[in-house]
Amino acid sequence: MFSVSFIGEQRIDLTKVDSTNSYAQKLIEKGEAFNGQLISTSYQSGGKGQRGKTWESEASKNVLLSVILKPVLLPISSQFILNKFLTLAIYDTVRELLPQQKVSIKWPNDILVDSKKIAGLLVENLIRIDKIEWSISGIGINVNQHTFKHYSPAATSILLETGIEHEVEDIIKILIKNLNNWQVIFTIGKYNTINNTFDQALLGFGKYRMYEVKDGCIEGKIAGTDEIGNLIIQLQSGETINFSHGDVKFIFE
Ligand code: BTN
Repeated sequence: MFSVSFIGEQRIDLTKVDSTNSYAQKLIEKGEAFNGQLISTSYQSGGKGQRGKTWESEASKNVLLSVILKPVLLPISSQFILNKFLTLAIYDTVRELLPQQKVSIKWPNDILVDSKKIAGLLVENLIRIDKIEWSISGIGINVNQHTFKHYSPAATSILLETGIEHEVEDIIKILIKNLNNWQVIFTIGKYNTINNTFDQALLGFGKYRMYEVKDGCIEGKIAGTDEIGNLIIQLQSGETINFSHGDVKFIFE
């Protein structure tokens, strides 16, 4: 699904930028982008999070980067498989750094350590005639930051979890390795491997917990995700409900 290029082989490292995702978008608009190109920075003045939120990060403390991908003929309906393989690469990276902790994916693509968020992914696709022409995947991993604002779920970092400072560049190298591992699995079309590994890494997979939905609260266990990336929750009665992003909220104490 790609003209395969090694992710990170082409890299632009910036001292400061508004957002690596916005910078990537400008490269695409100028015709200067490549498949597999990576844009990293030490500081973002306007870091973007999911659902119009901002992504806060102290200077030089964390992984802040975007990967530009040019999938060949990937229909819009299959775009969630891209999110899944990218999320799995971040998930594997955090697990390598925190082998003792319980790392999970909070659907659709947050990485949690216990109940705290350590990394996030913002995928922005440029669509042309029903196909994804370019995909910009912005990744933030909290590495050496001590304090965070009050978020739900609360935020954490590798430093807070281990008490040890890490070189941000070392973590970028591990991430690049994992992105390329999962890109191979994606490119050879092993979608079942991606789907099954992703589903089993989900917080709440096969375990009953409470969720906030439009009409109140439900108790259910995650049974997986469907082909368009909706979350499938199974109730005690056996009934399953498919939720799209924004229609179901995880409850954290
Ligand atoms: C989320 O809200 O969980 C997604 C966070 C994504 C943050 C990263 S940091 C690098 C890239 N550039 C941005 O402006 N956002 C993403």
